[in-house]
Amino acid sequence: MSAAELLAAIADVGRDARRGGYSRHAFDRPERELRTWFVERAQRLRLDVETDRNGNLWAWWGSPGPDAVVTGSHLDSVPGGGAFDGPLGVVSALTAVEALQEKGFRPAKPVAVVVFAEEEGGRFGVPCLGSRLLTGTIDAGRARALRDPDGVTFAEAAVAAGLDAERIGSDPERLGLVGQFVELHVEQGRGLIDLGSPVAVGSTVIAHGRWRFSFAGQGNHAGATRLGDRVDPMLPAAGTVLAVRRLAQSRDDARATVGRLVPTPGGTNVIASTVDLWLDARVPGTETPELVEEIVAAARDAAGAEGCELTVTRESYSDDVVFDEPLRRALAEWLGAPPELPTGAGHDAAILAGFVPSGMLYVRNPTGISHAPDEFAEDADVEAGARALTEVLERLSK
Ligand code: GLV
Ligand code: MN
Ligand code: MN
Ligand code: MN
Repeated sequence: MSAAELLAAIADVGRDARRGGYSRHAFDRPERELRTWFVERAQRLRLDVETDRNGNLWAWWGSPGPDAVVTGSHLDSVPGGGAFDGPLGVVSALTAVEALQEKGFRPAKPVAVVVFAEEEGGRFGVPCLGSRLLTGTIDAGRARALRDPDGVTFAEAAVAAGLDAERIGSDPERLGLVGQFVELHVEQGRGLIDLGSPVAVGSTVIAHGRWRFSFAGQGNHAGATRLGDRVDPMLPAAGTVLAVRRLAQSRDDARATVGRLVPTPGGTNVIASTVDLWLDARVPGTETPELVEEIVAAARDAAGAEGCELTVTRESYSDDVVFDEPLRRALAEWLGAPPELPTGAGHDAAILAGFVPSGMLYVRNPTGISHAPDEFAEDADVEAGARALTEVLERLSK
């Protein structure tokens, strides 16, 4: 089936009627439905599917073995996300394997299609959790204890999905099988719109991280409490949101976002007792931690002015990544020198890049919008991406 047909086949899974778009989170009902669908599609191609100790799915063409050529992406989404971020890389990989099988190609190396777990960190807060665990870039104990908004731990959710909580953690044997990793992904900005090409090769991923700011005040009555008697954590939270924009603007090409803010208890006629907000900060080069320090200082000032307590927790951080130069050169040569694009989005390929030669292909997104329902790719561009990935898999595995 073509990549566009495969995407159409899952178009109804995990639609979010309230937010629009899709909400598919690690091990929830829609994501499990997609996993089951993936296994079934992979088995139709006579691939052998296994789930690794961290909940990543591996569909092998040929026996699992060293120097494998691995491709794939993820099936989870952000809350209210688009149809392409993640699934496009998975369906393109299935389409590429099918195209190679149909023309009678026999890979000389093992080939695997991988589906990484919890790429968006939409449920447990740490993005690329499956690939971080695989590579040992997150401590297993910390990962097991991560909680979703309902208080369910990653370990509990993994056990409910059939995994063994004790085995969650770095997986050097499996990582040792991966010779090269190539992830195809929808473009998440406006990079390809003006370049006249449906496909690009990834060059870099900018440093990025997430921090949780918890402001604690005094819960109280919205009508009976005089303004001068309040310790309202919403004030420093609001001040922090404004500081994030102001401070990010003072640095070249920085991006900093507060996309989630949760007052507790969350009543219209209640002064909140606590407000949690999450900062997503990304600055090219090494300046992300400096920017965050400035934001934390502004947040402390704002908290102090209202008499609130502030606790800041780093949830994740990844340095700048430059994708493997020889692999980039090879991709460019095989694909007729498409444009090269940096990205501000994080990816499992950027985690893998610290361990094995890794690269990315991007497919043009005519809206330039991502992590939102308007994310899009034309069918013709989806097919161009799948053809490019087919070419790459053939070249790498022969
Ligand atoms: C994931 O897509 C991210 O970059 O946040
Ligand atoms: Mn994403
Ligand atoms: Mn993605
Ligand atoms: Mn991502």
